[in-house]
Amino acid sequence: MALRACFLAAGGHVPSHHTYNAKSMSQPTPTMNFALIGSARQRPSEDPIFAIHGEALQRAAAGETIIDASLGTLMDEDGGLSVMPSVVDAIHGVDPAHGSAYAPISGEKAFNDGVIQNVFGPAGLVDQAGCVATAGGTGAVYHAINNFLDRGECLLTTDYHWGPYTTIADQGGRGVKTFRMFNDQHHFNLVALEESLESLAKTQDRILLILNFPCHNPTGYSLGEEEWEGVVRILKEVDSGTPIALLLDLAYFRYGAPGTDAWVRHIGDLTDHMPVLAAWSASKTFAQYGSRTGALAVAMADPVERNRIVNALSYTGRGTWSNCNHLVQLASIELLRDPIMSKRVEQDRDALLDMLGERVEIFNREASKAGLRYPRYEGGFFVIVFTADPTETVRRCNAEGLYLVPIKGAVRIALCATPKNVVKPMVEILGRAVAGLQGDN
Ligand SMILES: Cc1ncc(COP(=O)(O)O)c(C=O)c1O
Repeated sequence: MALRACFLAAGGHVPSHHTYNAKSMSQPTPTMNFALIGSARQRPSEDPIFAIHGEALQRAAAGETIIDASLGTLMDEDGGLSVMPSVVDAIHGVDPAHGSAYAPISGEKAFNDGVIQNVFGPAGLVDQAGCVATAGGTGAVYHAINNFLDRGECLLTTDYHWGPYTTIADQGGRGVKTFRMFNDQHHFNLVALEESLESLAKTQDRILLILNFPCHNPTGYSLGEEEWEGVVRILKEVDSGTPIALLLDLAYFRYGAPGTDAWVRHIGDLTDHMPVLAAWSASKTFAQYGSRTGALAVAMADPVERNRIVNALSYTGRGTWSNCNHLVQLASIELLRDPIMSKRVEQDRDALLDMLGERVEIFNREASKAGLRYPRYEGGFFVIVFTADPTETVRRCNAEGLYLVPIKGAVRIALCATPKNVVKPMVEILGRAVAGLQGDN
């Protein structure tokens, strides 16, 4: 009963019938069977965000002035995709024969070591860590969901979250439970986290908690020092009864403002108790979205359990995509480990951070002037603005040529995709749309 409730809450997979009666109920005809299984028969044709982006592109191509703040890729001030020259050089520097060969199933050792250093180095956890290569950060999330939850169990995450968590869980027969991310002050809701963990611990043998900080998608929120302290304290308390794995989805962790890295000062307190997993992505870290390069690193003090985890992840890789992109793993080794290349890539990223930082500053200034309600925003690709009617807000914005993504109780703005000169007009359009709604009430 508890498990079925969990599936329904996720809005995901409900046990389906594999037959379909094509004729009217009154006619006793045989039911029709299809080759495509029942749960796969009603899949949507397109990802909703790509559909919104597609419409914006169409109107722009027809000559309209459009602001497209829908898609989560970092664009330059001239509207082209931001690419890091050091990354391009590193890719060109890979020996073609080496890059064309299969990578080891669990990834190049030097690549995995580089990722471990990148994610767990600042936390002082390198000696307690293992890692496998994955197909992007998505692959890392896939590995975690399929190895730290049994079929029928639910992951736990914030009510605002990246949609594919649900898709991945649903596809593997797992579900999703959420807790209210913000309290009334728009700060991280530690009380809701604690209550949800305790309640899930009563119905499941284990818990997988996914937290996507710093620079959470879609809200842009980063937990502060005290919030991380609270998360760690709560996890330790609940873990004494039910085993927990914590997945840090670090897709945007290199795009936060100084101070948004508070997690590195706290997670070390967890690794005696539970595996701390980190999903790393070259899509954002190296602006190589198309390379599908990522990794899942695990920090855990117990070396036997850690080894078992790495073996399990490697097995899932073999059974899912076999091995991952070798070329970009080899390039990443240079970018993560070579002193000159790693300095160059940091400089390239710093330039992108400065560009994004200017947009964030303008947004914060204009949005508070316009009286918009939004959570603390210190950097990252996205921010949300709360609104009573997201669909109507987006409709009004679309009418003025602005494209955003509607989500529950808010709209998501991809500042990563908007040059700084359009941030002010964008906020003005949004301000009018939200104020118009209030006027309608
Ligand atoms: C929150 C979050 N996690 C993970 C990913 C995975 O990205 P990729 O598979 O491109 O590395 C994304 C990409 O948009 C994301 O927004």
